[in-house]
Amino acid sequence: MNIAVRDAKEADFPCDALILPIFEDEGMAPYKEVDQRLDNLPSKLMSSGEFRARQAEVFLLHTYGKIKPSRVLFAGMGKKGEATRERARRAGGKAASYLRELRGTKDIALSSANFHSLPPGDFVEGALLSQYRFGTYKKEENEKGLKSLTILSGEDWKERIKWLETVEAGTRFARDLVNTPANDLTPSALAEAALSLKKAKVRVIEKKEAEKLGMGAFLSVARGSHEPPKFIVLTYENAKAKTKTPPVALIGKSITFDSGGISIKPSEGMEKMKYDMAGGAAVLGAIKAASELDMPVNILGILPAAENLPGGSASKPGDIVRTITGKTVEIINTDAEGRLALADAIGYAARSNPRAIIDVATLTGACSIALGNEAIAMMGNDDELTGAIKAASEDTNERVWRMPLYDEYKEYIESDAADLKNSGGRSGSLVTAGYFLKEFAGNTPWVHLDIASTAWTDKDKPYLAKGATGIGVRLLLSFLKNLKA
Ligand code: BES
Ligand code: MN
Ligand code: ZN
Repeated sequence: MNIAVRDAKEADFPCDALILPIFEDEGMAPYKEVDQRLDNLPSKLMSSGEFRARQAEVFLLHTYGKIKPSRVLFAGMGKKGEATRERARRAGGKAASYLRELRGTKDIALSSANFHSLPPGDFVEGALLSQYRFGTYKKEENEKGLKSLTILSGEDWKERIKWLETVEAGTRFARDLVNTPANDLTPSALAEAALSLKKAKVRVIEKKEAEKLGMGAFLSVARGSHEPPKFIVLTYENAKAKTKTPPVALIGKSITFDSGGISIKPSEGMEKMKYDMAGGAAVLGAIKAASELDMPVNILGILPAAENLPGGSASKPGDIVRTITGKTVEIINTDAEGRLALADAIGYAARSNPRAIIDVATLTGACSIALGNEAIAMMGNDDELTGAIKAASEDTNERVWRMPLYDEYKEYIESDAADLKNSGGRSGSLVTAGYFLKEFAGNTPWVHLDIASTAWTDKDKPYLAKGATGIGVRLLLSFLKNLKA
């Protein structure tokens, strides 16, 4: 969907549908001219209670040529005093999804006259995100969709539109990767996707080189599959960022399919495990957008990509592997593969002395036990960094909730035969997974974001259709934007 801006009056702008955001306690007052030219029908609808402007409620009216827009869509914003940025996003998502399903509605407009203290950009962001469908394998999904959204405003929107469009494109890129099934999205295909980014340097470390580098944990995950593992490294350097500024390392778990390996998962619902590379997709989406926006930061992106299958040479419970840091790990459960891949990725990242390491991973089933689908579980070793992520999460409503990493959790993952074991059992498995990763970050400020319960939604949300959510892209971008040089 194309975004444009036009300094025009609501009643005079020709379009298939005009969206009018309306607050419950304000009614049609801000749109006097539209109301009058429609014979006050809009305000009558409100006084009769047929449309009450509740949060994300919508109401469509045809205009019979009385004003230039063929239709108006009232978008309920709820009470003025309860307005939040997320509510605006949801109202935008609801309105634009509604119009997406109408036949013949392609070009729509949005009045920006009545947002009060809310930035209208959030409404537009919700509208943009709501249009995504995964259409690669289903033609009808590709044929629907709105063509343009014109914001009626006298202000300069250039920068804001560039941001909104680029961030949405990054999110869409991530969602497509996550939705793509594992037969097509192999580790090699993920490497190709990384190579498609024009403004980042990409180096793919193949199995042989990974062996030389000592990535025994990462490589152990791929042993059961015929798909070769790919350790994907991206660098984005911005001339405006001082060349000497150490990079932010963004690491994304990139298991293109997680069957569990020899510790195989139950077959019920296993098809969803194609989304076990959502962390990697979020990192790619964020780097794509950050580079297209020429953000003044240096980024080191790492996607340890592999497929976790139970083949004849697969890793077995009891196997011991050596990581890039020299630490050894006893594999108790081959289904705890994410932390094996991430251990080598974090160890590798730490070598370039980054200013921070952020890993994003669909790491544990326990994440949804703890938080449901409502927040990312965050763990970290540095209050300033976790604070910055928290701020970004409030900005985007990609919510994070911090979990503790008490020293006592160390005992849970102590092995008799190796330095660590990869599973501490059921109790505390969300945080023991985090603790395991912490052991590889050393003194580098590090934060772990478990997106296992938020990267995929089984039901439609106000501005996210079911399937991959692209979570992490907006969060990381907001974090990078706020970063001090
Ligand atoms: N990819 C899974 C975690 C997961 C589960 C993500 C459900 C999304 C939905 C991860 O590799 C895994 O299998 N974790 C195990 C670890 C356990 C064996 C210690 C888990 O959490 O059950
Ligand atoms: Mn697993
Ligand atoms: Zn996994």
